[in-house]
Amino acid sequence: MSEIVRFSDVDSMLRQLDPDDPVICIRPEVLHARSRCFREGIPGRVLYAMKCNPEPFVLNTLYNAGIENFDTATLSEMENIHAFLPKARCYFHHPVKTRKAILAAYLEHGVRDFVVDHASELAKLQECLGADDYTVHVRIKTPPSESAIHLAAKFGADPESAVDLLRDVARLGRSSGLAFHVGSQCRTPDAYRDAIRLAASVAWAADVRPDYLNVGGGFPVAYPPIPTPALERYFAAIREAFAADGIFAGTELFAEPGRALVGDAVSLIVRVQMRRDDAIYINDGLYGALMDLRLTPGLNPPVLLRRPDGPAPVGDKADLLVYGPTCDALDVLPLPWRLPADVKEGDWIEVGQMGAYATAFATNFNGTRRELRIAVDDPLPAVLAA
Ligand SMILES: Cc1ncc(COP(=O)(O)O)c(C=O)c1O
Repeated sequence: MSEIVRFSDVDSMLRQLDPDDPVICIRPEVLHARSRCFREGIPGRVLYAMKCNPEPFVLNTLYNAGIENFDTATLSEMENIHAFLPKARCYFHHPVKTRKAILAAYLEHGVRDFVVDHASELAKLQECLGADDYTVHVRIKTPPSESAIHLAAKFGADPESAVDLLRDVARLGRSSGLAFHVGSQCRTPDAYRDAIRLAASVAWAADVRPDYLNVGGGFPVAYPPIPTPALERYFAAIREAFAADGIFAGTELFAEPGRALVGDAVSLIVRVQMRRDDAIYINDGLYGALMDLRLTPGLNPPVLLRRPDGPAPVGDKADLLVYGPTCDALDVLPLPWRLPADVKEGDWIEVGQMGAYATAFATNFNGTRRELRIAVDDPLPAVLAA
């Protein structure tokens, strides 16, 4: 695992290192708090969808916080985690897998849980693993919800096909599960209630009591000033809908959050390289850790000017256009950042909600990807908090 240097607080790190490269600040205490929140809110197994941040320090901290199960989509993710957490349990929850990957996952990584959303994938599993002992989770397509990314456009069996698939899994003598993903950054707790009802209707129609029900990820983080319902409202909707339907008596509940488990536990510190009128040029951008701001429309992270020994900001706040560091005109953030009006070259800006789908997306286009990864112990500033 790469060495992560720990600092007591962000300002003393800035004084000490005077960093010109972007700094990834991980707050282990926040990872512990979010893990606790999910473990207390979900009456079942909490998996971490590691695609959204596979940083070993993050994985290790979550593991120590009691998250021992990991939603993986590729062999590389399994290798990454088992390199330093050999007892972590991996689940192969990508609905489309190669035969070699299925076998290697089963034989080398102890994977016993596989997701399917099509009859051909079930047949593939059966041909690869034969009579071996594993669970097949049938992923159901859910209707579009108020979410930033509608994953059901790409994955999931429509309810009628899901009924057939669940029946086939039971006929094969496999242990069975139902799974769904209501869409990432989902803003309505009722989407989970509706999806659980849909899953129940599939189970009744198939006349199969599933061993597992996986309510997926999709839990949101806050991008003020847009209001975001508290996580407890999502947990309550899930608990109520799950308990309300007798078909799930004896079923074990899974959730596999990504974004909401790690989003606000990591911030990104960028440096201003130039100011031109109402625009700033910074050392990270759309080809780096800020790519999700283009991929997921409407997201604008909270920002905080950091000038540890400099003059106090003067003037009102201003909306500034933000350019990234590459020699490419597309490298401009879709939404302006509201910052003190006198922001200038050399200032640092701490960007919140950078734990998920940020560094995981970063490319080295134009040779710009250099970064420092650290852990800090100071609490998340209120303006960056979810
Ligand atoms: C199968 C699966 N589970 C969980 C997640 C995590 O979703 P989120 O980050 O929205 O919580 C994803 C994200 O794409 C996913 O594909």
